[in-house]
Amino acid sequence: VERPLADRLGRRAADLRVSLTDRCGLRCTYCLPADGVPWLPRRQVMTDDEVIRLVRLSVMRLGVRKVRLTGGEPLLRPGLVDLVARIARLRPRPMIAMTTNGVSLAERVADLRRAGLDRLNVSLDALDPDVARAVSRRPLLPRTLAGVAAARAAGVPELRVNTVLMRGVNTDQAVPIVRWALDRGITPRFIEQMPLDAGHGWRRDAMVTAAETLALLGEAFTLRPVDRPRGSDPAASHVVFEGDRRLGEVGIIASVTAPFCAACSRTRLTADGRVRACLFSHVETDLLGPLRDGADDDELERLWRGAQWAKPAAHGIDRAGFVPPRRPMSAIGG
Ligand code: GTP
Ligand code: 5AD
Ligand code: SF4
Repeated sequence: VERPLADRLGRRAADLRVSLTDRCGLRCTYCLPADGVPWLPRRQVMTDDEVIRLVRLSVMRLGVRKVRLTGGEPLLRPGLVDLVARIARLRPRPMIAMTTNGVSLAERVADLRRAGLDRLNVSLDALDPDVARAVSRRPLLPRTLAGVAAARAAGVPELRVNTVLMRGVNTDQAVPIVRWALDRGITPRFIEQMPLDAGHGWRRDAMVTAAETLALLGEAFTLRPVDRPRGSDPAASHVVFEGDRRLGEVGIIASVTAPFCAACSRTRLTADGRVRACLFSHVETDLLGPLRDGADDDELERLWRGAQWAKPAAHGIDRAGFVPPRRPMSAIGG
């Protein structure tokens, strides 16, 4: 690619996150309300052909090298396996990743792997079914665990679990999750809660910080920061020791207390086909409307480059006057 996608601060965007649907079968408190979610009307959601058209453009013209499929819950897309297969046929072939709640993963992960899925992140906020239910408002932890087991059996090369810790809710799950994951060759990661919930209920002082998470894990393990460059990885990796036994690595995503915006390599497509240069952007650039009106690739490329160029420098969560995005995480795609 002659001109990689970039913003006015010189950050290159080689990672594309595509939200395939805003819908989800869970109602995690940090993301969705308990009921009455205003889902997108189905006709506004990109079809498989439309997703492929835009992903192809990003790979062939903008220099995107990694495509992460997100939601809502991407497994709710009936044609997901075929979508992955079509993305895997693009040249240069991008790395293909997915972030999922794992609930209906068991049935399809072997097919996804065969189709070309390289990496999988599964949201897992608890190992205790009652705690999982308190976070997700659904009694579906057994299915998520079955999904993770199936992903291991299918040989997905990189498997990780994401945990959002919330004080008084699931902090007691942190140490068990690390043991459970590392026993299975899975990388556990802990994420600071961001103000992305539909109800705008996020409070800075209620958030479990990365420092607190490290202290919590430090009671059971010895942690040592890895000594390799982090690049645009949102997670800071630490080697986990129990006594002098090395168990593996844990990732800490300090989105709020140690933002990684300066190294951000991401561009995003919402399920309704709009470019969001940043999770916290207040502007979105519609590509799906023009695409449906017959825009050619030159025009779509121009619109996408323009949207990315205006990417905010940083999210500014800790700055006075911060305004959270209007759409919840489920509609943005993480
Ligand atoms: P990539 O490395 O970009 O593929 O992302 P990831 O592995 O971190 O993806 P995942 O979907 O598992 O997201 C993990 C957490 O990181 C989630 O809470 C995301 O919202 C958060 N995250 C991902 N990308 C960004 C970002 O660009 N900005 C911020 N602030 N958080 C992000
Ligand atoms: N803050 C931090 N992480 C979040 N996720 C969803 N909502 C939030 C939030 N408000 C996480 C999910 C999932 C990933 C895509 O984003 O746990 O693993
Ligand atoms: Fe990138 Fe925006 Fe996320 Fe910061 S908040 S890391 S700039 S997407």
